[in-house]
Amino acid sequence: MTDTTTSGSRIDLTATEREANLDLEQLKQLVGLVDYDESTDPFPVTGWDAIVFVVGNATQTAHYYQSAWGMELVAYSGPENGVRDHKAYVLKSGSIRFVVKGAVTPDSPLIAHHAKHGDGVVDISLEVPDVDVCIEQARRAGATVVQDPENLTDEHGTVRVAAIATYGETRHSLVQRVVDGVTYDGPYLPGYQPASSTFVKRDGAPKRLFQALDHIVGNVELGRMDEWVTFYNRVMGFVNMAEFIGDDIATDYSALMSKVVANGNHRVKFPLNEPAIAKKKSQIDEYLEFYGGPGAQHLALATNDILRTVDELRKEGVEFLDTPDAYYEDPEMRARIGEVRVPIEELQKRKILVDRDEDGYLLQIFTRPLGDRPTVFFEIIERHGSLGFGKGNFKALFESIEREQDKRGNL
Ligand SMILES: [Fe+2]
Repeated sequence: MTDTTTSGSRIDLTATEREANLDLEQLKQLVGLVDYDESTDPFPVTGWDAIVFVVGNATQTAHYYQSAWGMELVAYSGPENGVRDHKAYVLKSGSIRFVVKGAVTPDSPLIAHHAKHGDGVVDISLEVPDVDVCIEQARRAGATVVQDPENLTDEHGTVRVAAIATYGETRHSLVQRVVDGVTYDGPYLPGYQPASSTFVKRDGAPKRLFQALDHIVGNVELGRMDEWVTFYNRVMGFVNMAEFIGDDIATDYSALMSKVVANGNHRVKFPLNEPAIAKKKSQIDEYLEFYGGPGAQHLALATNDILRTVDELRKEGVEFLDTPDAYYEDPEMRARIGEVRVPIEELQKRKILVDRDEDGYLLQIFTRPLGDRPTVFFEIIERHGSLGFGKGNFKALFESIEREQDKRGNL
């Protein structure tokens, strides 16, 4: 086991990170992992466990994540192993798991959820060392416990799980993978059977296109951002990171407010957005309208080679937001950015954005919405010291989103 010690605190790799052959130095660069002292944390969180999506067609979505996003199918659950109402496919890339679920029977509870929200994230599931400690703290702090702690067991061992509610109809399942000193060794959770991809990658395709999950942005109701920041502070002991407000990220038409909270080791980072008053409908308002309430807006996937990742994704037909050439040709922007690892022209060719702060820089690009509704999308991020979220790019990004919003007649 690799670990590192800084100022009396230490952090270990998770089992999935070890399995993905990641090391701590890499993770510090990829997602800004920091050392911290878990012993004083009222709600210790190790990291992400899985991101659970409900979609209209899980069978095809699972294929898309394999064929376009280079993910590996690792587990499955459905009618073939006793789950009557839905199918669930578990996909991995590096240390992150996606679970995509789709209804099989007309009376599946997933139908109503999908009818209301469309394709989206239902559960941002977190790995914790002790579910009961977390649930006790959650109750003390007034959170809504939607699933009491229980053990799930199969031939691979036992996992202890519970869940709390967060914004909208989103929940945080809490998953404890070591119970009574024994680590669960199944492919995901009890009830899932091992599965593997039948999809064959193209010759020369990289092993994976992203290594880890960096952050998930939540869009919440107008005027409720601070309430949700306080929820993460008070219930889960999350710390505040950066802060963007008002004018920082306003364009002529759109504006939003955003604050960022993170767990102690910074594996889990949640920027929270609320719409701000502007001349026309904010992109956050558009999301809230089409998702039918608050929910997860984008997932940022960390890579150590964004140029290659973007090239491969484009080959598979993934569409990204456009960035005008003016962005790259602006002398003020060039002066602010300074030297990055590749010539600006390489970024311009691919429409990759760049931002710099006192700690370093980051490269990032955003996809178009993944499903039919203008709701959830992905960001690809490559960090070089910067622990920010691309504040300097928000304006350029918003203007780009607005051009698309306008095409949809929603501006
Ligand atoms: Fe982001």
